[in-house]
Amino acid sequence: MKFINFTLNAVVLTAILVQTACTPTNLTKENVIPKPVSVVSSGSSFDLTDQTDIYVQGESLELKQIGQYLANKLNPSTGLSLDVKTTVNIPAPGNIYLCIKGGDAELGDEGYELTITEKSINLVANKPAGLFHGIQTIRQILPSKVEMSTVQKGPWKISTGVIRDFPVYGYRGSMLDVGRHFFGVEDVKNLIDQLAYYKMNVLHLHLSDDQGWRIEIKSWPNLTKHGGSTAVGGGKGGFYTQKEYSEIVKYAQDRYITIIPEIDMPGHTNAALASYPELNCNGIAPHLFTGREVGFSTLCTKKEITYKFIDDVVRELAELTPGPYIHIGGDESHVTPIEDYIPFINRVQEIVIAHGKQVIGWDEIALSTLKPNSVAQYWAKAENGIKAVAQGAKVLMSPAKNAYLDMKYDSTSAFGQNWAGYIEVDKGYNWDPATLVPEIRKENIIGIEAPLWSETVDNRKDLEYLIFPRLPGYAEIGWTPANLRNWDNYKARLVNHGERMKAMNISFFPSKMVPWETNEVK
Ligand code: ACM
Repeated sequence: MKFINFTLNAVVLTAILVQTACTPTNLTKENVIPKPVSVVSSGSSFDLTDQTDIYVQGESLELKQIGQYLANKLNPSTGLSLDVKTTVNIPAPGNIYLCIKGGDAELGDEGYELTITEKSINLVANKPAGLFHGIQTIRQILPSKVEMSTVQKGPWKISTGVIRDFPVYGYRGSMLDVGRHFFGVEDVKNLIDQLAYYKMNVLHLHLSDDQGWRIEIKSWPNLTKHGGSTAVGGGKGGFYTQKEYSEIVKYAQDRYITIIPEIDMPGHTNAALASYPELNCNGIAPHLFTGREVGFSTLCTKKEITYKFIDDVVRELAELTPGPYIHIGGDESHVTPIEDYIPFINRVQEIVIAHGKQVIGWDEIALSTLKPNSVAQYWAKAENGIKAVAQGAKVLMSPAKNAYLDMKYDSTSAFGQNWAGYIEVDKGYNWDPATLVPEIRKENIIGIEAPLWSETVDNRKDLEYLIFPRLPGYAEIGWTPANLRNWDNYKARLVNHGERMKAMNISFFPSKMVPWETNEVK
């Protein structure tokens, strides 16, 4: 009898130990990126089972779409069939509930409150964007293998507790240069999904440069026909039809991401100049350009046709773009005399405003007279950012030395450039937009953007090598208050995201700064 008792006790003890080892119960230990503002654990767990469904409040199509997004992410790997259902009441135990409540000023437009008990998951926000961000948190507090596209073995347990979370900055973005090398609609959609996973809300598309014009403009068809026909290195180029661009915009909108289109001017315009001789001061179209030099081209700022051209391009783009901004470039116009550059930028701002949009431009535009609501994107010269602030303008922080995704990680990097130095994963993470330049304060900053120039990459895999694992760090800088950010804590969470990136088939750079675990995705 004693012997049996001993055995029984051992079995019970083993069962408890196994459960403790496998069951997530401490919500504060989960690896959410960006790190949430507040996490309180209640020490138990919720089970996702074949009884679980996703309930959304009322008949809102938008909420149903958000619920369906979550179901589409969870069903393939869990093998469960979470359905999206509507309700006016708090649903029965065992379910996930998405609800818009309004009136929680601290959460703002993008924040959320996630309450997980043994009985239910309740996600509440003021606005749908908040629910969408909260869903990314639910994905990230499930085991990493939830991101696989094939059925994995459960159980699917989630630690209980409460997360209250909202961003520091309203603008958290990345940029893709489709001018130097063209990337098709599917590659852009893939990037949009990756941005959404890290709660980023802007994708800036650099749509024109010396080497290529990538957006159909119906009133100036040769821009794409000729100007879109090549790329860096002499590849075949490409462009988005207006229909394709609208498809990208809609895909992004469904993920609470704003597309900001950029037409770079007056420099970086060889593709346009090669397509229309009348845009050149000498009336002669140059050859298409497939090299990597910068700063040699300019629209003819003194010709009236130039402004007719810009007006047509901005009008067509504004009609296709629901977001508030058109990006006018303005960088590295080395062959445009400053006395021509300033009135040019002033006039282009007026054109953009006349079409109902606000201007963003690289930091050089602060040399002109910035219109109220124009934004200077600090990439190179702090003095330009300071000039923008002195004019009362806002600044978007993309300092090349800290935030350029096309900089190499180190001397061994397979892709990228190093004119702004190497940016290892810790360097990319360890800075604060609000203190980098003392004269540019938090209240002057609309947010952060990590741009990716594409001179050295022409396919998704190589793009991902440069984007990951740095992108999650930029997402955290944009979302999480600086006093809650810490490299060692972030590094530990990034290890877990290595598993998630593997599960999502993302080709990331295996930086030696991070102690990646080499075993299976858990
Ligand atoms: C830039 O990197 N030329 C904005």
